[in-house]
Amino acid sequence: MVSLLSVAGCGLHQSALNPAGRDATSISTLFWVMLAGAVVLWLLVNGAFFYMSRVRPGQFDQRYARHILIGGGIVLPVVVLTTLLVWGLSILPDPRRPGDGLVVRITGEQWWWRVEYWPEGAEDPILSANELRLPAGERTEIRLTSARVIHSFWVPALGGKMDMFPGRETMISLAPEKPGSYRGQCAEFCGASHAWMAFSAVVMDPGAFDTWLAAEAADATPPQDEAAVRGADLFLSEGCGACHTIRGTDAAGLVGPDLTHVGSRQTIGAGRLPATLDDIRLWLDHTEALKPEVKMPTYDLSPTELDDLAQYLEGLK
Ligand code: CUA
Repeated sequence: MVSLLSVAGCGLHQSALNPAGRDATSISTLFWVMLAGAVVLWLLVNGAFFYMSRVRPGQFDQRYARHILIGGGIVLPVVVLTTLLVWGLSILPDPRRPGDGLVVRITGEQWWWRVEYWPEGAEDPILSANELRLPAGERTEIRLTSARVIHSFWVPALGGKMDMFPGRETMISLAPEKPGSYRGQCAEFCGASHAWMAFSAVVMDPGAFDTWLAAEAADATPPQDEAAVRGADLFLSEGCGACHTIRGTDAAGLVGPDLTHVGSRQTIGAGRLPATLDDIRLWLDHTEALKPEVKMPTYDLSPTELDDLAQYLEGLK
């Protein structure tokens, strides 16, 4: 069940050959042209080889053979490869291209993503985690760093990949065009749960994005139904707030992901499970099994407590 769900989460949304933005389109074009060029060259070289060795064996004088060798073995590859190199460099996306205003800072943690939105002119960031939302049709600067070890940021459907280093800032600018949800994945081995360090990149129409960002900046809505209220109390009494922040409550920890609007995200545990009530409960009950060596301890909670806590977190829209 668990593995089926996580596989269902990937689908075709993590492919560099299914581009949804300007930079990814350049990379995909580059791939197809290089592939086509390689196929043509392979056919030419093998065709010539076949012709000379099988169809007309021993019928070429030395001078003619030397011309073929120099032409086909030196001149042709130099011309073709130089052309491909120059053209390839010209269309390769520049990761440092300036954005249109919005800056998103992402810190790689073990094994999740700390995300800060800095709209143009903002003095304080809007804090989030494990999901990257971007406006379609605009270029956004993604500024990357890491807390402890090297990670790598990669959303294949949106653009190239960029490493994240502790104590250093790297950058990749992305210009998504097609609204939708795409999968991002850490692309540098970073420890036991490297494979479980994923996220969704959600591309939205600019209007919808602004509405979403305003909602993301707001404090959490206090829970209404009884189970969720019990869950909220439990969250604080069990000490979850020492590691997690839920704005508008006493929970202000910075060790783990910000959970202020965790129920509105597509996944939990950095792409580990869908953010449904059942999966949040599963996560709380089997955190270590789902994400080996995760910092979050497994709490000994009763079934009712798990229900209440899951109810509370799922309701944090
Ligand atoms: Cu982070 Cu691999």
